[in-house]
Amino acid sequence: MSKKTIAAPANIAFIKYWGARDLDHALPQNSSISMTLERCVTQCTAEAISGDRDEIWLAEQGGGFSSPEPDFVHRIEEHLDRIRRWAGRDERFRVATRNSFPSAAGLASSASGFAALTLAAAGALDRGDGPIEELSRLARSSGSGSAARSVLGGYVEWPPGDDETSYAIQLARADHWDLRDVIAVVEIGPKAVSSLDGHRRTLTSPYFRKRLELLPGRLERVREAIDQRDLGLLGPVLEEEAIDLHLIAMSSQPPIFYWAPGTLEVLRAVRELRQEGLHAWATMDAGANVHVICDPDSEEDVAERLEDLPSVGFVIQDSVGDGPESEEPHLF
Ligand code: PMV
Repeated sequence: MSKKTIAAPANIAFIKYWGARDLDHALPQNSSISMTLERCVTQCTAEAISGDRDEIWLAEQGGGFSSPEPDFVHRIEEHLDRIRRWAGRDERFRVATRNSFPSAAGLASSASGFAALTLAAAGALDRGDGPIEELSRLARSSGSGSAARSVLGGYVEWPPGDDETSYAIQLARADHWDLRDVIAVVEIGPKAVSSLDGHRRTLTSPYFRKRLELLPGRLERVREAIDQRDLGLLGPVLEEEAIDLHLIAMSSQPPIFYWAPGTLEVLRAVRELRQEGLHAWATMDAGANVHVICDPDSEEDVAERLEDLPSVGFVIQDSVGDGPESEEPHLF
């Protein structure tokens, strides 16, 4: 039977997906824009097998396999059902996945995970080369909407729309603009509130409507910044967006506090680095860790400074990347 392995990268949102019109289908309230990463990847091997149930494994870093938590298994099985319905097939799958970075630490492991699963399972059914719009839509339907963006490389926009029309498109390839992402990890381990719950609560925040009003202008600035390779234009929007996401989380009912004390320490250091003349701007997803977007000339100084902060466990130096790749050897 056919077997396929895909390495799909995480992505970091410049304009965030935070709040859905239809959470069951991961249809967002607003367009989001992200940069696909290079080194933070999920590898997934999927094999179409005969039998009556799917087999799902986590591949350990040092070799060997373990069984995931039942909730995780359930989400994967549901997504494999969607992929079977889409392909009009009824084979079961044997699936193994492995992350190159800490899972569930606000580093978008669900985006890379569901993008990799979608492409590997579609590939195991010989449908992995299908139109990228369809694969993006299918990745979105996993419920982790930002997975729709991880099927593409470079700079990516994912518009709202309906079930048919909400899929990601590439704004620019990775080689258009070499940006770096220095990730300061201040907290490791799963976040207390999932992004699904975060989306669910957005409408309870009095600031959510205000953010929607501000978004068309921000989206324009980010598209223009990417087009012109202008970090001075992009940077302030990155920080506005990250702060808004957390402002809405903190003012939701019940409130969600993703930040840790180290988050503020990193944000202050990034402001200081800018005062010293470096081009570095911070953003955060639904977690405590901080992504510092910078140009290649600033990367080493940014990484050194952040590494020295008492609350930073370690930094990951990543960059814009080309998107998912087919890989061998397989994980099993
Ligand atoms: O795709 P989800 O449901 O995990 O939501 C992603 C939410 C953020 O990472 C916080 C923002 C984004 O656009 O990636």
